[in-house]
Amino acid sequence: MARRKKLYEGKAKILYEGPEPGTLVQYFKDDATAFNAEKRATIEGKGVLNNRLSEFFMTGLGNIGVPTHFIKRLNMREQLIRQVEIIPLEVIVRNFAAGSMAKRLGLEEGTPLPRPIIEFSYKDDALGDPLVPEEYIIAFGWASQQDLDDIVALALRVNDFMAGVMFAVGIKLVDFKIEIGRVWDNDYMRLILADEISPDSCRLWDIETGQKLDKDVFRRDLGSLTDAYTEVARRLGVLPTNVTHATKPTLIN
Ligand code: TMP
Repeated sequence: MARRKKLYEGKAKILYEGPEPGTLVQYFKDDATAFNAEKRATIEGKGVLNNRLSEFFMTGLGNIGVPTHFIKRLNMREQLIRQVEIIPLEVIVRNFAAGSMAKRLGLEEGTPLPRPIIEFSYKDDALGDPLVPEEYIIAFGWASQQDLDDIVALALRVNDFMAGVMFAVGIKLVDFKIEIGRVWDNDYMRLILADEISPDSCRLWDIETGQKLDKDVFRRDLGSLTDAYTEVARRLGVLPTNVTHATKPTLIN
């Protein structure tokens, strides 16, 4: 197979040049990291599950009119996406206190919040993605006030969609992170949902038992991450046919 040009390699994904200008191929790795990559592991099958799950969420969001970078899934680990200019922010939406917010405010994890709360982290691994106020974002030119208003509106639509889809399969959407990209149609700039939506970037708790079905299973050593993600995929009806690697040629009779 012809080698494609690798444009970027992150902790969980690789971006390759796409077949047409303005497109990229997004490859989902099996690598998992936490605490700014202090903790690492390779979790067989994670990339396949996240490719499918991100396709499922992005397609659903597209169907209700939320613009996303997703074009189509290409194979078990790759999807074709629109090339965007990523805004260097992690946009976090929280419905219940957990993780860093619970710690910062001394709240018990799972405490319901009075309304969805949106916060922004500046994407910079060397700095550990610090939380930043809107004033920094505007002053440093990462996004304008108008961009931020649009990002908040988009994030709340994603929240409503994701919370509903999850509730329907007995899962509570505690919080999640999205990334936003800019695309240009001639001189007109638009903001669209980019990156991925998967259990790597959400907190998902079983409504009945409270069991964690997201990357906290890895962060906190709570068991098998593949089992947790497979359960999410199974409930949503998006289980891949085969999540394991073929390690050697198999004879097909
Ligand atoms: P936090 O409570 O650790 O700040 O995480 C909030 C949400 O953002 C949670 O759903 C996990 C997600 N997240 C990422 O997707 N990437 C990250 O690097 C971090 C720190 C959190």
